[in-house]
Amino acid sequence: MTTEIKRKLNVEVNGITIECAAQARVLDAINEAGFDVPTLCYDERTGPQGTCRMCLVEVEVEGKTQQVAACTAFASDGMQVATHSDEIVDYRKTILELLLSETSSPTACPKCISFKKCELHDAAEQYDAKWDAFPSLVAREKPKDPNPFIQRDYDYCISCFRCTNICNDWEQAGAITVHGRGQENSIASFFNNDLLQSPCTFCGQCINTCPTGALTDKKIVGKTKAEDLKRTKTICPYCGVGCGIHLLSENGQLKGTEPDFDAPSRGSLCVKGQFASWEFVKSEERLKYPLIKKNGAFERASWDEALDLMTKRFTEIREESGPDSIVCWSSARSVTEANYLMQKFSRVGIGTNNIDNCSRT
Ligand code: SF4
Ligand code: SF4
Ligand code: FES
Repeated sequence: MTTEIKRKLNVEVNGITIECAAQARVLDAINEAGFDVPTLCYDERTGPQGTCRMCLVEVEVEGKTQQVAACTAFASDGMQVATHSDEIVDYRKTILELLLSETSSPTACPKCISFKKCELHDAAEQYDAKWDAFPSLVAREKPKDPNPFIQRDYDYCISCFRCTNICNDWEQAGAITVHGRGQENSIASFFNNDLLQSPCTFCGQCINTCPTGALTDKKIVGKTKAEDLKRTKTICPYCGVGCGIHLLSENGQLKGTEPDFDAPSRGSLCVKGQFASWEFVKSEERLKYPLIKKNGAFERASWDEALDLMTKRFTEIREESGPDSIVCWSSARSVTEANYLMQKFSRVGIGTNNIDNCSRT
């Protein structure tokens, strides 16, 4: 007798039957069926932790009904899921109002003002949750942190710990951790609150996963209006890895970048992609034409002058010291064809295998 392994499950979400993978979670089935529940502590890259309880739904299996966190519970064959029963909607609204009572005013949220509606305030709006439904708790202090990239305002923190999870488990930087308990808790770097003294690589992932205005891009926050920001999907121009980004622009002016979570890089960026891949566009120091150093100072030259000089000097150096005295360094920002030509020039034109690219640096 052979045991048949069931590879697909039939799950009914709000009356719609869908087929999902045998290992699917209830949240996967909900998304597959086209419904949405708030998931304030969930980032698919680090997996579920089930702490915010916003994704609670009612499930019925073989006549038994229970409430489960959709992000952690596994789906089962024949399961019926209700995402928005009156009881669940009321429950979510109460949780949101409790969270709002721990945080600063939604009208001053730096993420909502400068970038886009944050997940907390988006959910609060959807569920008509009021900021003043419960007495507010004591405001948390902003850490004094001179780093140039990340604005930290923990009075918007809801202790979801997406930032510590992404920093420790995904980026493996181990720069931040949870410090203290309850309303006294905060997100801190080890031993002090200054990110510049921590192992932080300024990858920006904590900003991008944070569902509130607690963490924002310091270079942009306060300088843009969320309603005017335009996002253009592209590839980071900094190195050959080619992580997906969105360029942020306002009235035709480049303002910054955000990672593209739909790209193969799944939202990961390095400090250059996150905070600097746009600034050089308007730099006064960009090279726009050839420069030749004469008497210790660079002077503008024509392409013919520059190419003649290069041919002369390359020939002289090769004759004096041999082809391996020359190294060619190619730009990872160039297209593949240009890099191919560069290695051809190095190997065939100069006669050396000394060719590398700047992706390694
Ligand atoms: S920027 Fe990156 S390395 Fe630094 S704290 Fe955030 S997630 Fe960690
Ligand atoms: S700073 Fe943001 S991501 Fe980190 S625990 Fe607070 S709300 Fe969550
Ligand atoms: S998203 Fe499921 S408990 Fe937070």
